Amino acid sequence: MRTHYCGNIRKEHVDSSIKLSGWVMRRRDHGGVIFLDVYDNSGLCQIVFQPENEAAFALADQARAESAVTVSAVVRFRPEGTVNKNLATGEVECVASEIILHNIAEPVPFALHEKNSNVSEEVRLKYRFLDLRDSRMQKSMKIRSKTVSVIRHFLEENSFLEIETPVLTRSTPEGARDYLVPSRTHPGHFFALPQSPQVFKQLLMMSTFDKYYQVVRCFRDEDLRADRQPEFTQLDMEMSFVDESTIKNCVEDLLRRVFSKVLNVKLPEKIPCITYKESISKYGNDRPDLRNPLELVDIADLCVDVDFAVFSQPARLPNHRVTVLNVPGAVAKISRKDIDEYTKLVGVYGAKGLAYIKVNDLSQGVAGLQSPIIKFLSEETLMSVLKRAGSKSGDILFFGAGPCGVVSPALSALRDKLGVDLGLIEDAWRPVWVEAFPMFAATYDAKGVAIDLSPQHHPFTAPEVDSVEQFVKEPAQALSRAYDIVLNGHEIGGGSIRIHALDMQMAVLDVLGINKQEAEDSFGHLLEGLRYGAPPHGGLAIGIDRLIMLMVNTESIRDVIAFPKTQTSACLLTKAPAKVDPLQLQDLSIITREKG
Ligand code: AMO
Ligand code: AMP
Repeated sequence: MRTHYCGNIRKEHVDSSIKLSGWVMRRRDHGGVIFLDVYDNSGLCQIVFQPENEAAFALADQARAESAVTVSAVVRFRPEGTVNKNLATGEVECVASEIILHNIAEPVPFALHEKNSNVSEEVRLKYRFLDLRDSRMQKSMKIRSKTVSVIRHFLEENSFLEIETPVLTRSTPEGARDYLVPSRTHPGHFFALPQSPQVFKQLLMMSTFDKYYQVVRCFRDEDLRADRQPEFTQLDMEMSFVDESTIKNCVEDLLRRVFSKVLNVKLPEKIPCITYKESISKYGNDRPDLRNPLELVDIADLCVDVDFAVFSQPARLPNHRVTVLNVPGAVAKISRKDIDEYTKLVGVYGAKGLAYIKVNDLSQGVAGLQSPIIKFLSEETLMSVLKRAGSKSGDILFFGAGPCGVVSPALSALRDKLGVDLGLIEDAWRPVWVEAFPMFAATYDAKGVAIDLSPQHHPFTAPEVDSVEQFVKEPAQALSRAYDIVLNGHEIGGGSIRIHALDMQMAVLDVLGINKQEAEDSFGHLLEGLRYGAPPHGGLAIGIDRLIMLMVNTESIRDVIAFPKTQTSACLLTKAPAKVDPLQLQDLSIITREKG
């Protein structure tokens, strides 16, 4: 039904007879001549219908926006003065001899192809098949497809084997709630959809496959955010007889290939590594945006004896911090009102206030400083703080003091906001590895003793210790052999070296409060695998959706998924989840009741 795609018609085609198939973007009547802009996924081309060709003219008159058409035409130069330099096909137009209207569109529920359209996302998702016609969405889908294609080529060149793992399976321990599927043949029993193929890929290593990958859908019933979906796609990888460096090098090469082939961007030759501790200390989170030059500087040791309880108390307590963010040149750029806004922002994270010091003129010493807290601090303390923070005249220092769990996220958010507000975010790709995570996340009792440990990654991650004896001595202190790859403030992938010895695996499960019986019930198949020659192994999974979201420079993960779910995990297009026929429930031995 076509000889060419619409977006490819150029002056070399002038005088050729062509056939284009696509959709009407808009129709204009100009002094008895009808213009249709016809588009397909390559772009658009202007078609002219002249009244002399009565049949085609009459049909073109019925062709509403978004109708599907095929047009036979002859290409010609556009008349002088009507060339459109912003359009790839803007030098030419096509004079129609015939048009077939395959499907005349009803008036569309919202205007498509508009740059700054203010149509709600709800409407766009309800009519997603129309929304996907927009060039923005077409571009996302093309970049996504190309990225996955480059990934597959790279991994196949490197002897990885793609192996599919089950979707109907048992609960997998990635820390979210499971999506459950009832079994008809085993009444009262449920499959869980995989949160990741973690256990299966480890078993594949035990089955001697050596290098596995899968582009795979994962399902997690968790609270959604701008970069989270209940079903999302991972590039999942695993290798045997490797250590961290082999896996990280492979992932770096892969990312360099993707960015080079898809975006023509050169990522750094070597991606820097920082420890989790350093990341929390400097950036307040474990997914630092290195495009932002602002850094936190800890000053608790300078505040232990100050006469200001807001600082001295946390300075003396474990799991508390006193930290400062020095913002160069901020005196001239930040108003009192801005500071009130920033105080509100940190308040959202539980911070009780936002102390600050304006460095009006450093050469005047304390007299050159302006702040509600100067009166509480000695000249010596003030000067030591300014020195450590690297402050100069014109800078403002913002302070966070209190529990780490409050101060770190609060100052991390402040750092992000100041970076944007002051235009400090570098236009660059700044990947970074974060490693040496604590093995467990803990809640602490009043005495600062760790209670209630949960895995920071998943319970199959190897601790950074030489022996089980060493591990059980101080499990809460153990670091893990996990690593995350972070890009411009987003965790795009995470992985670890796994435990390959049964005694270590049992010791870790024991620390997590999972007894032998529970372990057998939940991961008996993995534990069995560890009895029969399990090789040292490790891997990583990259969140494809998040990666693409960054590559196409959008704020929402929904912009890179053809049919995404809303914040409440619903699909507005299909209206899923939905009630089902009572007979279906009966078949599944399920009785429902209203939530009360
Ligand atoms: P993890 O849970 O860190 O590791 O997931 C790997 C990567 O998947 C992406 N991701 C998500 N993307 C969109 N929506 C979500 N709800 C979501 N959750 C995670 C992130 C994340 O870095 N089995 C391990 C991997 C391993 O150890 O090899 C795992 O799943 O980009
Ligand atoms: P206050 O003594 O409560 O009036 O606080 C004095 C200054 O310290 C004010 O500017 C507060 O915003 C600030 N402040 C109070 N609590 C904290 C905190 N936990 N971290 C940082 N600054 C704080």
